[in-house]
Amino acid sequence: STESRVEALLAKMTLTEKIGQMNQYNGFWDVTGPAPSEGDAKNKHDHIRTGLVGSVLNVSGVEDVRALQKLAVEGSRLGIPLLFGLDVIHGHRTVFPIPLAEAASWDLDAIELSARLSAVEASARGINWTFAPMVDISRDARWGRVMEGAGEDTYLAQKVAVARVRGFQGDDLSRADTIAATAKHFAGYGFAEAGRDYNTVDLGTPTLYNVVLPPFKASVDAGVATIMNAFNILNGVPATGDTFLQRDILKGQWGFQGFVISDWGSGKEMVLHGFANDLEHAAQLAVTAGSDMDMESYMYIKHLETLVASGKVNETLIDDAVRRILKVKFDLGLFDDPYRYADSVRESTLINHPKHHAAALDVAKKSMVLLKNENQLLPLSKTKGKLAIIGDLADDKNSPLGSWRIGSIDNTAVSLTEAVARYRQDIPFEQGVKLSVGEESFLQEIVVNETDRSGIAEAVALAKQVDTVVMMLGEHGFQSGEGRSRTDLGLPGLQQELLEAVHAANPNIVLLLSTGRPLALPWAAEHIPAILVTWQLGTQSGNAIAEVLFGDHNPAGKLPVSFPYNVGQMPLYYNRMNTGRPANVDGNVFWSHYIDSPSDALFPFGFGLSYTRFELSNLRIDASDKSAVRVSVDVANTGKRAGEEVVQLYLHDRVASIARPVKELKGFRKVAIEPGANQTVEFILNDETLGFFNQHGEWLVEAGEFGVMVGTSSRQGLRGEFSL
Ligand code: IFM
Repeated sequence: STESRVEALLAKMTLTEKIGQMNQYNGFWDVTGPAPSEGDAKNKHDHIRTGLVGSVLNVSGVEDVRALQKLAVEGSRLGIPLLFGLDVIHGHRTVFPIPLAEAASWDLDAIELSARLSAVEASARGINWTFAPMVDISRDARWGRVMEGAGEDTYLAQKVAVARVRGFQGDDLSRADTIAATAKHFAGYGFAEAGRDYNTVDLGTPTLYNVVLPPFKASVDAGVATIMNAFNILNGVPATGDTFLQRDILKGQWGFQGFVISDWGSGKEMVLHGFANDLEHAAQLAVTAGSDMDMESYMYIKHLETLVASGKVNETLIDDAVRRILKVKFDLGLFDDPYRYADSVRESTLINHPKHHAAALDVAKKSMVLLKNENQLLPLSKTKGKLAIIGDLADDKNSPLGSWRIGSIDNTAVSLTEAVARYRQDIPFEQGVKLSVGEESFLQEIVVNETDRSGIAEAVALAKQVDTVVMMLGEHGFQSGEGRSRTDLGLPGLQQELLEAVHAANPNIVLLLSTGRPLALPWAAEHIPAILVTWQLGTQSGNAIAEVLFGDHNPAGKLPVSFPYNVGQMPLYYNRMNTGRPANVDGNVFWSHYIDSPSDALFPFGFGLSYTRFELSNLRIDASDKSAVRVSVDVANTGKRAGEEVVQLYLHDRVASIARPVKELKGFRKVAIEPGANQTVEFILNDETLGFFNQHGEWLVEAGEFGVMVGTSSRQGLRGEFSL
């Protein structure tokens, strides 16, 4: 058995070799060149050769992976193979839509396939471990990493997390085309105060247990191989040094058998948090708390041996960590063949495989969300009318790739203009305006300092000559992602000015919103007749958008995050608690509201239109079996096109021993219905969906009255009730 193989190997290891397994390095030198002769690179190289490294990150490509694996396997005494980790977040060479966009598809099969094919490509380039999925819930669009998760809702995020874990890992981790997944960042990282990345997190027990932890628990139940802890402090304790999270909850209550990797340097950052005196103390706190592998803090490799010698760290803690790490290596099949993931035939045949592009196109089409479509401006005719495409992003081949796409090659997305040119061969469209939305780079700050307005006049002149204007505006790919917090959720640069000027010349505008986060666009929502959220859709971006623009695909995406009126509403989420003063009953000012903005979202969670219409009727609730309450509804396609609708069930526990949200998603079904046809959709509510954690972290299912809403967004639906 794997356990006995792990034990047999552990018994042969020296303390130094064990600590080596807990050490991960970033590989940054030319690994196939001569052995580095000085500095950090020499150190790391020597450490790999002498069995002092358990894993490297950011080394990919069969040749490089093979070279480093050979160094570890043939150089070190016990020949323990390395894990090769990489951020395979939304595709590898073929880039899929950003994770937030994919969540908008509410299509779990498509999401699973995206992760599956990402694993196929990454593993063909030597990678056997991804630092994904990010399962952090975020309610704050200022935070740049909103793009990397499944949005604001825990139920949806749980389902998406499971689909992604299954996709990456398949049902057999030892296959050469499956890779170990990582649910990250444990825990609370998405609740950074004021949306500023890496900032303090302070969370009460009900929010931690009911909102933040469930997607991690779902990932563990789905067999996720590893968990990454986080940069942030949670309720005063840095996540990397948090015993309660890692030992009590994760490894204790949930029985997690895999290992915990720190975030990049999050061990040493505990010194800056004022939690550890120095690096040695940080190592002691982290290993005691259950952080098994150290990413780039060098704290275990430098200090663990001394800490064991001085009795500050018990060797059993180290054994526990090493067992977990070795188990993942055995599960991946690395002890049977350390070069399993270094196959040059797979590398040359699977990268950019046409099937991957077809799947990327499919999920990209499913990810778009139609927010507005007055007078059925969309879809556009393929043959009639003069068209202009305006906006710098329209011919950008880089921006649609989004952030966190380390395996990709720059400028490889199909741009909108390229794709539209194919649709409109008979009537060419005009293209205009260069208004920079910023410089692109993964590592550097983006400066949007556009002062040249000449493009605006050009765009206005163009808009006057055509019937319809398609404007592609928003953020480019690196304006969201890690380190990209914003205090303004409007269109960057001069784009709002451009939009208003073009609108004055020709109001027949289709606005395509390219973005990695919710944007606040109240003016556009009021004045622009058609708005489609196109996020950052990956390699096949332009093709996918063109299919929706010209009606070959009927959009069915639904927002996984609330789009606000303005940034001052942050944090904003639909599943809020009620206040004691929710409405203006006394005619005075003393009720819960803003004096300068609505309180609710401009476009709510779960919202998204179609080119056809769906009507819900006949809500039935059968609560005769208290442990399986049945809720069903009929859905009819009353429009003229075939389409898909996401039917959503929301629950409200009206009175409970702690206050519960005004509504919470507890079920959804995506159904495809032909025009004139209808379908019945049924949901079953059980203890798992009816219960909650209280302020002491206890799970309760309480008798009482429940409100139910079944609808096509979190705002609208048929309402009913039942009691338990
Ligand atoms: O996986 C990431 C993490 O999400 C943020 N810090 C760096 C890690 C490795 O690249």
